[in-house]
Amino acid sequence: LAPLKVALLGCGVVGSQVARVITEQAEDLTNRIGCRLELVGIAVRNLDRDFGGLDPELFTDDAKALVSRDDLDIVIEVVGGIEPTRELVLTAIDHGASIVTANKALLAQDGEALFTAAESRGVDLYFEAAVAGAIPIVRPLRESLVGDEITTVMGIVNGTTNYILDQMTTTGADFDDALAEAQRLGYAEADPTADVEGYDAAAKAAIMATLAFHTRVRGADVYREGITSVTSNDIVLARKLGCVVKMLAVLKTDVQGAVSVRVHPALVPSSHPLASVGGAYNAIFVESRDAGRLMFMGPGAGGSPTASAVMGDLVTVARNRVRGVAGPGESVYAQRAMTPMGEVETRYLVR
Ligand code: HSE
Repeated sequence: LAPLKVALLGCGVVGSQVARVITEQAEDLTNRIGCRLELVGIAVRNLDRDFGGLDPELFTDDAKALVSRDDLDIVIEVVGGIEPTRELVLTAIDHGASIVTANKALLAQDGEALFTAAESRGVDLYFEAAVAGAIPIVRPLRESLVGDEITTVMGIVNGTTNYILDQMTTTGADFDDALAEAQRLGYAEADPTADVEGYDAAAKAAIMATLAFHTRVRGADVYREGITSVTSNDIVLARKLGCVVKMLAVLKTDVQGAVSVRVHPALVPSSHPLASVGGAYNAIFVESRDAGRLMFMGPGAGGSPTASAVMGDLVTVARNRVRGVAGPGESVYAQRAMTPMGEVETRYLVR
C-alpha cells in the first residue's frame, strides 16, 4: 500500500507532540494501521522558529497551498480559532482529505457546515481532542452510547479554570498567579479569556450536547459564566458551607425533551466525587436510561494528553482510509427547545 499522506496545521504545544509521535513511533503506527503514515507538511504562521528536532523542510507558512493538494489523505488541525481555520478545513475536505481536529470553537460554531461538507465528500471528521483532552468522551457520546438515551452530562471540562480554582483553594494563591502558572504549564488557551470567561467550556458543552441529545447546540446557545469574579473570600465561604468552588458544565434534558446547557462556577459539596478532581484534570459524569451512571476522568489539557486523543483519531481515520470506509457522521435529527437559564444563579449548589 502507498503511504497515507498526512498534513499538520499548527505546531504548538499539541502539534509538535503529534509530529514527534508520528515520526518517532512510525513502525508501531504502521503495524496498527496496516499502512505507513507519511508526514508531508506542517503549516505554521512563522517560519522563523525552533523546529524542535523535526525536519525543517516539512515546514511551510502557506497553509492554503498545503491543504489544496489533491494527494492528502488526512489533515490534522491543531491551530484553533475560527478563521482562517474554517476555510482551511473546508478546503482540505473539498480536496478529499479526512480531518482530525481539536478545534472546539470551530465545531461549536460551525459544526454543521463541517459535517455536511465531510458527509457529502465521504471523508471522516474526528474530534476527540476537542473535548476534555485525553479523556475519551466524544466516542462514548457519539458511538458507544448512541443506542441509549442520555439524560445528563455534568462535569469539569476546562483544565485551566480547574487548575486555577484548585490552586486558589489549596494554596490560597490569587487568581492572577494561578492563571500565570496554568499558562506556563501549557494548559491555558493562547488567549486565556476563552478559559476564564467560560467560552472554552461552553464550546465543549455545546459539542457534547449536540452528540448526547441529537440536537444542534452551538456555543452561543450555552448559558455561560466565567470564574473571573470568584474571589478568595468566595472560596473561604464555600469551605464554611462544606463545599468547594468548581467550574462546571451541566447538560440536561427535561421530561418534555427540552435541553439546558450551562457552564458556570458552582458550589460542590466536598464529599462529591467532582470536589476532589484537582489540577488540570477533567471529569465528566454521564447518566443514561440504560447504562445508568458513568464517570470519565483524566488529564483534560496539555500537550501530551491532547496529542494522545489526536493520535487515537489519526489511527482510526487512517484505518478507515485503508479500508475505504468513513466513520460515523452526526446523528442530529431532533429539534429540541433550549430551556431558558434566567434563574440558574440561585441554584449553583450541585448535589
Ligand atoms: N485550555 C483548555 C483547558 C485546553 O484548559 O481545558 C483543552 O481544551
